[in-house]
Formats: sequence, structure tokens, C-alpha cells
Amino acid sequence: MVTSKHWSIKQVDLSDRASISALLSTARWQHQHFDWVSALDLINESPFVAALDRDLVVGCLACPPDPPRVAWLRIFSVAADYSPAFIWDQLWPKAAAAVSTKNVRQAAVLLSGDWLAPILKGCGFEHTNDVIFLERRGEAPPTPLLPLGSIRTMLPEDIEAITELDQSAFKDIWQYSAETLRQAYKHAAVATIIEHKDEPLGYQISTASIYGAHLARLAVAPQWQGRGFGTALVVDVINRFFHQGVLKISVNTQTDNEQSLQIYRKLGFRDSSSRHPVYQLQLDG
Ligand SMILES: CC(C)(COP(=O)(O)OP(=O)(O)OC[C@H]1O[C@@H](n2cnc3c(N)ncnc32)[C@H](O)[C@@H]1OP(=O)(O)O)[C@@H](O)C(=O)NCCC(=O)NCCS
Repeated sequence: MVTSKHWSIKQVDLSDRASISALLSTARWQHQHFDWVSALDLINESPFVAALDRDLVVGCLACPPDPPRVAWLRIFSVAADYSPAFIWDQLWPKAAAAVSTKNVRQAAVLLSGDWLAPILKGCGFEHTNDVIFLERRGEAPPTPLLPLGSIRTMLPEDIEAITELDQSAFKDIWQYSAETLRQAYKHAAVATIIEHKDEPLGYQISTASIYGAHLARLAVAPQWQGRGFGTALVVDVINRFFHQGVLKISVNTQTDNEQSLQIYRKLGFRDSSSRHPVYQLQLDG
């Protein structure tokens, strides 16, 4: 492994786009968050730091806060022949210092590969949860429920109210900012709201690809939970996809999210083997 004396660390900017792009497409060690935006779209955000060996970008790390008090590790990439632990030790202190000036309370990582876990543990991150995937394949859709509230297609002008609903329903690290919700909405195949007298009670956003559909987001406002609205939204979206000929739907949730697991399993989703640990670190902020 290379540990050259010719190191420099920099906050990246648009002029680094080509070298970051080259690293991302060839990196031996690659962590990328399940994100609504591409890695290169983050290039103007801070912190997005790069490690250079002489003039060559050999590692990069991005964790711009979103939601505002949480720094998710969005990218950590390291070139072949360089030690990921060594590059992390160069980049993470800079990134952590940058987010601490922004009043960020915690850092979080949704792992996609085992190699990063020992590095995170080594600097104080704790394994707090796991995200699991469930899948529903080819079964007849559940009978649509009697309308408890009415379900309608979400519109761009709903985003503000839905952001508020989302932030009241989800715990800290899982909340969406308005911008992230806007991105999710942009990628949606089906986005619906359940409402009563013009008040949004809950919403879901699902995407679709040639591989099937994915229920990406589901929330019901806390004061309306436990009355069947979450179930109604999921039943409705399964039916909408069924009528489009989409029979395979996946979803992910945390292993300790009993309410959502109850809904998904009740409606025919089965656990898959895909499991992603969540690591968190409290910051001074
Ligand atoms: C998950 C969520 C959308 C469910 O919405 P909801 O309107 O409360 O859901 P429903 O009332 O339709 O169903 C909830 C189910 O969970 C069950 N439930 C509630 N608390 C539970 C618990 N502690 N353990 C197990 N099951 C539980 C209810 O009994 C009900 O199941 P049932 O209909 O078979 O009796 C809502 O809790 C929420 O917004 N949570 C925060 C955001 C979130 O975690 N979203 C899901 C991420 S994938």
C-alpha cells in the first residue's frame, strides 16, 4: 500500500470534476450512499474532500449535511494500491471539522460493503441498526381498502406540506429535506398522498425500472398513525403497479421498524437476504 510523503487534501470544486469522475469509475474501495442524486452532483457541496498523491486524486469523501443536522457519508472512494484506512485518516478529520462548523449533530453511514466497518468502528462509529430489503413477487394484489381518506397523486405544490409531514414522522437521521424530497419526487413512478379534508395524513413515493418497482418512501403523520392509513397507501400502490403490469415490488426498512414490517409482511412482502448495517457517530456540533 502506498503511503507517499507528497500528500495534499483539498475541498473539491468544479475543476476537479474529471479527476473525481475518473476515481469514482475505477476506485478499488467504493462506498456510495443510496442517493437520489449522482455522486458528481455533490461536487459543489461541502464537505467533499479529496486526497492527492502529488497531482493524482487517489481518494475522496463527501458527507454534506442533509437533513441539516445529519452528515450521511455519501461517498468514500479509494484507488487501488492505497489503504482505505490510511485515506480515511487523512480525509475524515477534515470532513468532520467542516460539518462541526455547520451545527451537525451526527454522522451516519449506510454500509454497502463490509470493508468499511472496521474503519468506522476505529473512529468511534457504532452499529445502531440494519436496513433490510423485502420483496413482493407476482402475487395477486390485495383488495383495495374502503377509502379511509382519499388517495390522490402527489403534485409539486404538495412538497412543502409533505416535507413537514415527513420530518414529523421520521426520526432524525431518516428525515428528508425539501430538496431531497423534490429529488425523490422527480424520480417517482407513483407518488401518492392520503388526505382528509385537504389535510395530508400520509404519503408514499415509489420508483420503477425494468427490474420492478421500489417503494422508496412511506410516512404517516404521527397523530394519524395506527388507523390503517399506511396500509391503505401500500395496498393502493401495489394495485397501481399491478394494473401497469409491474408484479415485483421491493421495499426497505430498518429491522426495528415494527409498524412498517407488520404492513409489508401482512401484504405479502418477504424478507430478502440483502442487509445493510447502519453506523452512527455523535458529533459535538
Ligand atoms: C410505518 C408507518 C407509515 C405506518 O403507518 P400507519 O398508518 O401507522 O400504519 P397502519 O395503521 O396501516 O398499520 C400499522 C401496523 O403496525 C402494527 N403495529 C403498530 N405498532 C406495532 C409494534 N410496536 N409492533 C408490531 N406491530 C405494530 C399495527 O397493529 C398495524 O398492523 P395491523 O393493521 O396488522 O394491526 C408509520 O408508522 C410511519 O410513518 N412511521 C415513520 C416513518 C417510517 O418509518 N416509514 C416507513 C419506512 S420504510
